[in-house]
Amino acid sequence: MMDSPSALAPEYVRGIAPYQGGRPISEIAREFGFQESEIVKLASNENPLGMSPKAREAMMVAAADLGRYPDGNGFDLKAAISKRFSVPDSWITLGNGSNDILELVAHAFLQPERESVYSQHSFAVYALATQATGAKAVVVPATAGLGHDLSAMRRAVNARTGVVWVANPNNPTGTFIAAKEIEAFIADIPHHVLVVLDEAYTEYLAEEDRYNAFEWVAKYPNLLVSRSFSKAYGLAGLRIGFGISQPAITDLLNRIRQPFNVNSLAQAAACAALFDQDFLAQSQRVNREGMVQLERAMTALGLSFIPSWGNFLLVKMGSAPDAGMQVFKALLAKGVITRPVANYELPQWLRISIGTSAENERFIAAMEQVMPALRSGLNAAAGRS
Ligand SMILES: Cc1ncc(COP(=O)(O)O)c(C=O)c1O
Repeated sequence: MMDSPSALAPEYVRGIAPYQGGRPISEIAREFGFQESEIVKLASNENPLGMSPKAREAMMVAAADLGRYPDGNGFDLKAAISKRFSVPDSWITLGNGSNDILELVAHAFLQPERESVYSQHSFAVYALATQATGAKAVVVPATAGLGHDLSAMRRAVNARTGVVWVANPNNPTGTFIAAKEIEAFIADIPHHVLVVLDEAYTEYLAEEDRYNAFEWVAKYPNLLVSRSFSKAYGLAGLRIGFGISQPAITDLLNRIRQPFNVNSLAQAAACAALFDQDFLAQSQRVNREGMVQLERAMTALGLSFIPSWGNFLLVKMGSAPDAGMQVFKALLAKGVITRPVANYELPQWLRISIGTSAENERFIAAMEQVMPALRSGLNAAAGRS
């Protein structure tokens, strides 16, 4: 009997567990009989303010001409990024979301006999992109505070390593590593290994924590920094991100990307979003205030959380083995969508994205309703009173 194409697909591809995103509003509305407008989604680290009005305007202008292919080289957007961040345009790779950049890196630098090093509890796409190439995943245990253990990651790097991934801040933990430590880590990585510094949430950092990793790219030919327009810039639905690396790396990524990997609407919107400082400042403020609002409420409920540098908070829901899923389900029934993180080996935790003050309030009110009823069960299942 002939084998089917699926049976002949590489073992490492058939073994991939697909990415689990946040549950969409429309799906929950149908399942629980809500109006979509009654649902609060705090599940995908999106910007609760939506997109910048300037970006929307630029997108609408671009929408008049969708019969044509986008600029496959992204000339205008590269010029805008180059101006905004003082980097040469030969350092820029545009992606269909920064996710695209991560995938391009995996395809360019990993293959079955090579290794990919990343931290336990770090962003799921490092594992997915690694597995899709057949490379060996080397998962380094996190610190007690659920952050990256950079010393252990350095020790995990060897002659077979192709890529080492660092998310700063990390998703879903929200943990952050100070600039000095990161640079010392990069400087200590052998030159044959590409370091990916994933900065999807960097715009949310407080002034005192900020650093300019693009300056490091000039010093380290084996560094790629990735950035996203999906978070503080509010363009998640358009799918746009970029990578900054020296031209030798950029050139390789350019060979394997799809010819038109970034659509015209995304390119136009991103050009405008980059220079809308008011919108960015407002997004940062709403996030900062929302973070305090959530931290206070979780403390009042007696719940512990990991201090977060991102636009989300990881909260421990109890000591029952599936505490996160139980609270997730109870909140869904109240029309509040959060993100369970059992797939990150954190089954007792829930990740909550920071929303507007009113959205955060809905989540807090739902928690105040569901926790007393769940609490005895959540702790009793773990043998505690
Ligand atoms: C750490 C991190 N990196 C990258 C991404 C990918 O984002 P996007 O493809 O929307 O730019 C995400 C999305 O959640 C993330 O959390």
